[in-house]
Amino acid sequence: MQSISEIKSLRSQIKAWRQQGLSIAFVPTMGNLHQGHFSLVEKAKTLADKVVVSIFVNPMQFGKNEDLDKYPRTLTEDKQGLAELNTDIVFTPSVETIYPNGLDAQTYVDVPEVSQGYCGASRPGHFVGVATVVTKLFNLVQPDFACFGEKDFQQLAVIRTMVKDLSIPIEIIGVPTQREVNGLAMSSRNGYLSAEQKDTAKVLYATLKNTAEALKTGDRRFAVLTEQAEAAITAAGLKVDYFAIAERDTLKPASATDSDFVILVAAMLGSVRLIDNIQVSA
Ligand code: PAJ
Repeated sequence: MQSISEIKSLRSQIKAWRQQGLSIAFVPTMGNLHQGHFSLVEKAKTLADKVVVSIFVNPMQFGKNEDLDKYPRTLTEDKQGLAELNTDIVFTPSVETIYPNGLDAQTYVDVPEVSQGYCGASRPGHFVGVATVVTKLFNLVQPDFACFGEKDFQQLAVIRTMVKDLSIPIEIIGVPTQREVNGLAMSSRNGYLSAEQKDTAKVLYATLKNTAEALKTGDRRFAVLTEQAEAAITAAGLKVDYFAIAERDTLKPASATDSDFVILVAAMLGSVRLIDNIQVSA
């Protein structure tokens, strides 16, 4: 595995591969890799000849009071895990490399409609930061495929919309959420939780599954189902940020005529913000 942090070296390796007619799949990450990330790398390996993984904790997508400074950084372990999966390049640029003019750049990528609501409402500016850095990384790596987790469902919708709207020639691949045995979606932020809190946090997926079951059996009382779910999550000791039943592709609030749904949740457990979702076709 090559470890590259300079743009020039990255571009020259990509160019050499292209001259050999090789295809490239890309997995952008912020590091502190777990089985969720590794499942994206495994998927990427099935798609293309070469796999590039980036590790970059992107300051632009963190709010002022968020966990940028204490975001877990475990580069040595991350590289070891990626090498074991036969990743071809791990790209680890510095903040100065990605933002040579600082964060007050002139040009941003905004996907306003899908970025509205849910995490976009709770984290103003977050998806502009995500869309901008992903565009930059796409321009650096110029892959054929890019893999994103369904765990961050709204992020995946933002990226899909952006790629379509800007005619970016990259196929976006969504990868199912990897979970702990108790159902908790794997996340770098789970490292902030105690064993007891991890047990408490299983209520999120359990509640999503209950609501999904209700939708499958034809229940369309969205407001009632939402209220019941919020009550269950609150009773377990979490503070609900949002719980929403939405149309799967537009992320607009669900209506009774829809048949593809996504149920989205975000909640605070102590100071840790957890998100999860489940898709339902009914
Ligand atoms: P990060 O949180 O490191 O996640 C990197 C990728 O891993 C994302 O596509 C995310 O959806 C996926 N992922 C995380 N947990 C997962 C799980 N349990 N199962 C499956 N996939 C999972 O998301 C980001 O970084 C950043 O916003 C980024 C896209 C890199 C832009 O900075």
